[in-house]
Amino acid sequence: MCGIFAYQWHKPATPILEHGLQRLEYRGYDSAWLAVFTDQWQALLVRAVGKVSELSKKIEWQKSITDLTVYTSGIAHTRRATHGGVTEENTHPHHDTDHHFYVVHNGIIENQRKLKDELESEWYVFYGQTDTEVIPALLAKYWTGDLYQTVQKVLPLLHGAYALLIKSSYCPDEIIGVKRGSPLLFALHPETQEFFFSSDAQALAGYASQIIYLDDGELLHLKNKEYTITSEKWIIQRNPTTLDVWAMEASKWDYEHFMLKEIFEQSAIMRRILMGRVDFAHKTLMAEAFHGMHDEAYERIVLVGCGTSYNAALVWAYWIEHLTGISAKAEIASEYLNKLIPTDVKTLHIFLSQSGETADSIEVLKYIKERWWKTFGIVNVVWSTIAQLTDHGLFMRAGYEIGVASTKAFLGQLTCLFLLTLWLGKRRSMALSTYNALLEELQHIPNKIDQILQTFDLSQEQDTIRTHISSHIQSASTMFYLWRGREYPIACEWSLKMKEISYIHSEAYPAGELKHGPLALIQSTTPSCLITLDDEFFSQNISSLAEVQARKGTIIAIANDQLPQAEYTIVIPRTHSLLAPFLVTIAMQLLSYQTAYSLGREIDKPRNLAKSVTVK
Ligand code: F6R
Repeated sequence: MCGIFAYQWHKPATPILEHGLQRLEYRGYDSAWLAVFTDQWQALLVRAVGKVSELSKKIEWQKSITDLTVYTSGIAHTRRATHGGVTEENTHPHHDTDHHFYVVHNGIIENQRKLKDELESEWYVFYGQTDTEVIPALLAKYWTGDLYQTVQKVLPLLHGAYALLIKSSYCPDEIIGVKRGSPLLFALHPETQEFFFSSDAQALAGYASQIIYLDDGELLHLKNKEYTITSEKWIIQRNPTTLDVWAMEASKWDYEHFMLKEIFEQSAIMRRILMGRVDFAHKTLMAEAFHGMHDEAYERIVLVGCGTSYNAALVWAYWIEHLTGISAKAEIASEYLNKLIPTDVKTLHIFLSQSGETADSIEVLKYIKERWWKTFGIVNVVWSTIAQLTDHGLFMRAGYEIGVASTKAFLGQLTCLFLLTLWLGKRRSMALSTYNALLEELQHIPNKIDQILQTFDLSQEQDTIRTHISSHIQSASTMFYLWRGREYPIACEWSLKMKEISYIHSEAYPAGELKHGPLALIQSTTPSCLITLDDEFFSQNISSLAEVQARKGTIIAIANDQLPQAEYTIVIPRTHSLLAPFLVTIAMQLLSYQTAYSLGREIDKPRNLAKSVTVK
């Protein structure tokens, strides 16, 4: 989603802003822009449709005709179009007719049509189609001679979720940041008296040493070197916290893509998640980690998430129902309010989110909180909105996930959810022998993940995944992921991953259901991935395999041994059948990655997608 970055005083602002935007690129965007200002409010705007690299070309050209070092503050933005097309005109910052107010905005102003109609009836002329443009127009209309007062007058007129940065020619040494529903951080470097705003802490690595996470409804007013934070017009005290620059540093190391690096990090991440939460020697779980889960007699659990997080919720709903006897249901956040979901005070709502900023999930969370029902979060980003709003939670500890397609966060979610299953199961109906067997096997999963990763070697021409399977898949226009029973969520996740990074259409389908319709699509150019593990479904899966092959379809089996009947096999180590999702996931991530790689796709930033979906 859109990204904001701003810098105030006293170094040349352009390279800092450009670098900030590069670090925000992973969030997804379709145009980029920056505006830099001198102490005397001379402004220079550079806009580009497309990548930040296009913007950099324009900056280079500006350098040849202008001295950019005199511009010592500025604001910058990556935009993902919602209102108005992808044009230079629609890139931010938006300004009023007389260029007295500049506004950068993430989010959506929901009543923009009504506000625009009112302003137009007063002869105001808008130059573009964005909802943002209404904000500088209102600032100009209600200008009191004081920027803070004027902003306070305008904010109640705006409906929706947003993060804003506002600058004005009337007071060049001031800048105002407002957070309401979209992420916005303020950061500073006290020694050098430099100040920053950003949508994302990671963009600040190496620039600022302290950070303030603004809460919803808060406004930060920076005037020269002083800043105040107000909420509902009351001044509040908020001490900055240390920004851990090393943890923030996002580097691909030697990997060609962030996604590949993140896939390879997973065994280490799983060990990190388990550390301090499980004592394998004594087969116990550490109580403090599960605070908020143990003392309530929940009758139902509803898991809410989107995309990959929803698929993790589906895995958990299966675990929970089979191992604890508690009724559990996964719900897609964007559909939650459209359905009549039976729920009450005896229902625990668990919110799953990597970013913690997904607007669809936040909307449901707010709805639940208004009714005082209990909430629990499994979130990766510690300071995020969902992490802050949920009553209790478990942090994923997956570290920064930069690749738009979620990989290590999914594994992190599964790991946290599996621990919660064991925790709840022990207190409900799980047999001690099952608990011990699962915990024992869980300990071995990181090593088994490493075994799968070792089979994938980009430099090895003979690698099966690399050379044969992915080149077969890449010529397909559609494919199937066939599943039975508990494998459904993993097939859904697999299909999602393949779609988003390779752009090949795929469908997760129950293998036994093929003959009721989809068999009509099977032909030599329709590959099917079939999860064929050594379990109670094995012989039925072999029948499905024959059914597909009889229509000249190709089978890529995920199996515990080479499967002679299949055209291709990806072998994964044996494990307890309930823990198989951890291993199947790794194999499917590698296959999707390799297919997208062979097709030359932009793997870390697939078209039309954003890392953090902060609009509904
Ligand atoms: C898929 C993917 C998305 C996200 C979804 C929810 O690879 O990344 O489907 O899973 O947008 O995002 P979070 O987990 O941040 O709430």
